[in-house]
Amino acid sequence: MMRKVLITGAAGFIGSKLAEYLHVRGFEVVGCDIYNFRNAFFDVGDSNHLFIQKLRCDRIAHFLHKNQIQYHAVDLSDNAAVTKLFSNVKPHAVVHLAAQAGVRHSVKAPLDFVKSNLNGFANVLDACRNFAVEDFLYASSSSVYGARTTAPFSEIDRCETPESFYAATKIANEVMAQSYYSQYKTTSMGMRFFTVYGPWGRPDMAPMLFAQKMRQRLPIQLFGNGVLKRDFTFVADTVYAIGQLLQKGASRRHADVVNIGHSNPIQVTDFVSTLSQCLGIEPIIELAPMQISDVPLTCASDEKLIELIGEWPHTSLKDGLTEMTKWLEKWQIT
Ligand SMILES: NC(=O)c1ccc[n+]([C@@H]2O[C@H](COP(=O)([O-])OP(=O)(O)OC[C@H]3O[C@@H](n4cnc5c(N)ncnc54)[C@H](O)[C@@H]3O)[C@@H](O)[C@H]2O)c1
Repeated sequence: MMRKVLITGAAGFIGSKLAEYLHVRGFEVVGCDIYNFRNAFFDVGDSNHLFIQKLRCDRIAHFLHKNQIQYHAVDLSDNAAVTKLFSNVKPHAVVHLAAQAGVRHSVKAPLDFVKSNLNGFANVLDACRNFAVEDFLYASSSSVYGARTTAPFSEIDRCETPESFYAATKIANEVMAQSYYSQYKTTSMGMRFFTVYGPWGRPDMAPMLFAQKMRQRLPIQLFGNGVLKRDFTFVADTVYAIGQLLQKGASRRHADVVNIGHSNPIQVTDFVSTLSQCLGIEPIIELAPMQISDVPLTCASDEKLIELIGEWPHTSLKDGLTEMTKWLEKWQIT
């Protein structure tokens, strides 16, 4: 029997790609997201609504509709709607990616994160228990590691001092998942993503934000005076890792977490010069102090991931940004 996977956040950056990836590999994929074409102005907390609206709309068309992947518009913070969704779909596996993302936005509006990241997560977790879902994987984040500077970050490190409310909601998700294992033996795998970038990426994150500003010949602000370091992960590598975790049943053991990152942090100034080469545009740089919620470094140990799935692809920053910038030029004129 074909395995049925429900992907939440399927209009999002990672979710839309994952939907196509699993569909092509023979899974029966069902996507859901709060976004629907009639309700285009759902407030995602970003200023650039029109851009985000077009991007979500185009992702659904390109990755889901084109592949005839079933799509449901559901607000996961609505428990009755989640129960209805699970009883209609009856998924064998759930990859829960839906969330209010964005570290910086959580400084401006922390309460925007409660609905999707806490209520939504609890509803999905409870539905996984009630509908006896075999595999439950969900998105956590490198931000759970806080402001530590000892690298690489390991899953056994303590994560109790979040620098943002966004990070606090991700830590809360991991703790909630652990409590469901203690109470009900509901197994799960939290995936701690490290700055995922690539084509169809999020406009609020540095790769897309900087690329857009540079194309418009606008200045880009480098916080922490450009010395912050990030472990950048190409989206196709991320989706490969999620697919492998799913296929290997990695979430069936207990309530576990794993890093999805390469242990290869890159200083933001180096990142900008690679982006500048890919675009063929000189950046206008403004150095700025570190912002509240920023962390100096992210650097994943990927030992545990490799134990679980074996070697996984590592697209170089140059190749990844080349793909991203090529897509951006093409997408904007279509
Ligand atoms: N992209 C990264 O670098 C990164 C890093 C760390 C963690 N994450 C986490 O990975 C997941 C996916 O990230 P992404 O970059 O694809 O984000 P994204 O914003 O592109 O996608 C998230 C999707 O969730 C949907 N959503 C939000 N609230 C919802 C609700 N109440 N009901 C239904 N859908 C809802 C949004 O509409 C959006 O399409 C998120 O949980 C994010 O926090 C991402």
